[in-house]
Amino acid sequence: MCKLEKFNYALFGNPIDHSESPKIHNFFSVQTGILHTYKAINIPLDQFSSVVSDFFKKNVKGANVTAPFKKEAYFFSNKLTERAKIAQSVNTLKKINNKCILGDNTDGVGLLSDLVRLKFIKKNFSILILGAGGAVKGVLLPLLSLGCSIYILNRTVLNANNLVKQFYKYGKIYVFEEKVFKKQNFDLVINAMSRNTKKKNFAPLSLISSKTFFYDMNYSTENTPFIDWCSKIGADSISNGIGMLVFQAAYSFLEWHDVFPETNYVIDALSIN
Ligand SMILES: NC(=O)c1ccc[n+]([C@@H]2O[C@H](COP(=O)([O-])OP(=O)(O)OC[C@H]3O[C@@H](n4cnc5c(N)ncnc54)[C@H](OP(=O)(O)O)[C@@H]3O)[C@@H](O)[C@H]2O)c1
Repeated sequence: MCKLEKFNYALFGNPIDHSESPKIHNFFSVQTGILHTYKAINIPLDQFSSVVSDFFKKNVKGANVTAPFKKEAYFFSNKLTERAKIAQSVNTLKKINNKCILGDNTDGVGLLSDLVRLKFIKKNFSILILGAGGAVKGVLLPLLSLGCSIYILNRTVLNANNLVKQFYKYGKIYVFEEKVFKKQNFDLVINAMSRNTKKKNFAPLSLISSKTFFYDMNYSTENTPFIDWCSKIGADSISNGIGMLVFQAAYSFLEWHDVFPETNYVIDALSIN
């Protein structure tokens, strides 16, 4: 017997058409018997606050937020979880006491869960992160909490500097500077640049070994430019971000329904589509 939820859920972003989140939440809904409705809504860039306020006036209990609105969702929230407060970035909203909006960030726990599933992470790893956008803000705290040393390489150095200023009190985090960096093999390279960013070299080859793991936060049924590059340089351990997407959705589902859905078969189903 399915439990019929009377509340609606949504994902807000711009653009939104590539999103697999409605499909994932549909899997969770069928699996758990919690029949919530979940749709992707594209919002004009200057209308986040007004559209989401109107949405929450209706029969709504929660929402996800994706690029470029995670910072706005942080300011929109009346209360924040500790991890969202530290990240200053929100991807999950939940109505509490029928009036207040709680902001959470499940990107970090989502990425970490997938890295653990893949056996791509250990305590004290040395990690190179490519990019310094909203997604990186969400994932730094759990990686730093594992004692990892994190180096940020970003097109706009100022944005990497700002991230280091925001997070240095939580662990070992540095701006990656090729000229001054001593030769060291990274254990893990994470790509967090925008989906279709093409580059000849994503990272200096001198910093990579045959044991390095490569993770692309982006996901697509076809190879992303980063995954193509990893294959070209002969990397053995490569993954795209579909697992992170499923896990961050599962943690949002847990926030809304107090139920953690089964994730592995959803990852498998999305990986072969
Ligand atoms: N799998 C998942 O669950 C998951 C979760 C979150 C995000 N993501 C994916 O992760 C990616 C990043 O998301 P985000 O929210 O952090 O986006 P964002 O805030 O827009 O940040 C984009 C990042 O990409 C860099 N960039 C953009 N175009 C570039 C170019 N041509 N050359 C070099 N660098 C470039 C930006 O550098 P500047 O600072 O120089 O602008 C910035 O660091 C997105 O594609 C998103 O779909 C996946």
